[in-house]
Amino acid sequence: MDITSRVDRLPSESAIRTFLKARGLEASGREIVHLEIGEPDFATPDHIRVAAKKALDNGQTHYCDSQGVPELRQAIADKVSAMRNVAVDQADVVVTPGLRPILFYGALMALEKGDEGIYFDPAFAAFPSVIEFAGAKAVPVPLRSEDGFRLDADALEAAITARTRLLTLNSPHNPTGAILNTSDLEAIADIAVAHDLMVLSDETYEEIYYDDRPRSVIEFPRLRERAIVMSGFSKTYCMTGWRLGYAILPPRMADAFTRLAANSVTCSTTFVQYAAVEALRGPQDCVVSMVEEFRRRRDVLVEGLNRIPGITCHSPRGAFYAFADVRGVGIPDTELANRLLHDGGVATLAGSMFGEQGVGYLRLSYTTSMENILKALERIERVVSSLP
Ligand SMILES: Cc1ncc(COP(=O)(O)O)c(C=O)c1O
Repeated sequence: MDITSRVDRLPSESAIRTFLKARGLEASGREIVHLEIGEPDFATPDHIRVAAKKALDNGQTHYCDSQGVPELRQAIADKVSAMRNVAVDQADVVVTPGLRPILFYGALMALEKGDEGIYFDPAFAAFPSVIEFAGAKAVPVPLRSEDGFRLDADALEAAITARTRLLTLNSPHNPTGAILNTSDLEAIADIAVAHDLMVLSDETYEEIYYDDRPRSVIEFPRLRERAIVMSGFSKTYCMTGWRLGYAILPPRMADAFTRLAANSVTCSTTFVQYAAVEALRGPQDCVVSMVEEFRRRRDVLVEGLNRIPGITCHSPRGAFYAFADVRGVGIPDTELANRLLHDGGVATLAGSMFGEQGVGYLRLSYTTSMENILKALERIERVVSSLP
């Protein structure tokens, strides 16, 4: 009995794969510093946990509206309307178990067999995966290191063909930490309108930034009318294991999107949605202090990496990843990541896992304590200086 090539082609998650390898080493007595996994290391804030327990005790343990409970959709609409100075109606919001289903649903809504969907390389691997899963061709547009991984609008325009239907975006960006600015988004809007593209904008790191607040696609009316904009609770509120995200759709698209959710997951976990209402409506100082801690760690990690001969690293503007150029070290990124894990006890991800433009890079997630970051830097330096 064969499984379909569509499913066979789906890759496993590289960060989880490396994490499990590191866990295996720990089980055999090794001590590992984890810089591979992209999830905040802080506990979910108390008031959110209390709200979840209260919802459980109040019996919020049954199926609910596939689109999301109205209280949460309203809280999301209120947050986005206030933050982005746009009018978002709760009817245009759909709640999902994390962001990943939104990527699937968006690709399934935009693409027919033989169509093309664009993603930027390097990329969170789910982007090309969902495009291909939908039966389309995933077309990479390079983000080049020499341009600081910034959008090249000419390269984007050049990648579009008569079959292009979907453009995927991610800002702040995993793995580079780059952020699309106003002129980038204006250029994207010109192109999306000219070629009648649907836009799938992953803004999961929208609250994790170190200078100006990143712009959202939703602030640009020409994009708003053709974009599925998504964010969630995993990164902002340290809720990765709770599985909750949301999409904001152009008016009248929420129904089709909800049918995808209803047919695949029925609904998102009911009591978790009530905890998420508290996350949005409750105190936000937990987010501020988390980002301040990320900033301190980023500065120490980036400075430390730049002191190691053969490694250079720019300071990311958002998210919580350092994307270090290790081409000067003299061995391929995959081999370096392997040696760091096995010889140094530091788990990182090879940049090539994120696409061709990531070759020669390492992604280091600073979602671990400062003590661990300092330990990792010492170990990386030791491994790199021992190379022939
Ligand atoms: C760009 C991006 N999108 C989506 C996700 C997954 O988010 P969630 O856990 O909410 O499904 C991640 C997780 O690393 C990510 O980096």
